[in-house]
Amino acid sequence: MLVSPSLLSADFGNLARDIDMINRSDAHMLHLDIMDGVFVPNISFGFPVMKYVQKLCNKPLDVHLMIVEPQKFVSEVRDCGAEIMNVHYEVCPHLNRVVQQIKNAGMRAGVTLNPATPVCLLRDIVAELDLVLLMSVNPGFGGQKFIPQTLNKVRELRTLIAETGSKAIIEVDGGVNAETGAQLAEAGADMVVAGNYVFKASDPMAAITTLAHL
Ligand code: DX5
Ligand code: ZN
Repeated sequence: MLVSPSLLSADFGNLARDIDMINRSDAHMLHLDIMDGVFVPNISFGFPVMKYVQKLCNKPLDVHLMIVEPQKFVSEVRDCGAEIMNVHYEVCPHLNRVVQQIKNAGMRAGVTLNPATPVCLLRDIVAELDLVLLMSVNPGFGGQKFIPQTLNKVRELRTLIAETGSKAIIEVDGGVNAETGAQLAEAGADMVVAGNYVFKASDPMAAITTLAHL
C-alpha cells in the first residue's frame, strides 16, 4: 500500500522535526490539506507554509485542495512543488478544463469525491486522471471516523477504471488506521492518507511502516 501521511495532524510548532521524520520513513508521499473556510468549515494553511514544506521534504507532495475555484491557483500549487494536485469534483463545473490545466502545468491530476458524491459521475473523465481521491470522512478535520460505505466506492471505482482503460490510482482519505487500511487494501485501494493514526502514534515511523505493508 502506498502511504501519504497528512501533515494536518503534525505538530505545527515542530514542523521541521515532523517533516524530517517523514523523510526518514517508508512514506511514499506527503499529503497537504489546503482549506478555505468556504468549501469546508475549517481553515488550515496556505502557500507560505507549503513553500517551507517543499524546502524541507524529500518526498513528493500530494496536495488536496478543499477550496472553491481551485482553477485560480494551478500555477501557485505547481510553484510550491506539488507532484499531484487534487481538486474536488463538487467545486469544478468545468472539470475537464481544470484537469487539462493541471497537466499542462506539469503536475499529475487528481479528482476528489466527497462521501456522498457517487463514483459513476467520473465515467467521462476518469481516463484523463492520474488519481482519484475518495473521501472516507466529510472533509475539513482530521481524527474523524471512517465511513464504511467507502469500501463499496473503492470496488466500484476499481471496476470503472478497468472498464475505461484509465491508469488512475485510487487514494482514500480519512479515518485510516491499520484496521480500515487493511479493509481498503482488500477492496482495491492503491494509496491511503493517514493523519491522526501516524502523528498521534507513539512511534509514527512504525505506524507508516504498518500501513505500507498492508
Ligand atoms: C480531512 C483531510 C484529511 C485528514 C485526515 O479533511 O482531507 O487528509 O487530515 O486525517 P485522519 O487520518 O486523522 O482522518
Ligand atoms: Zn486530505
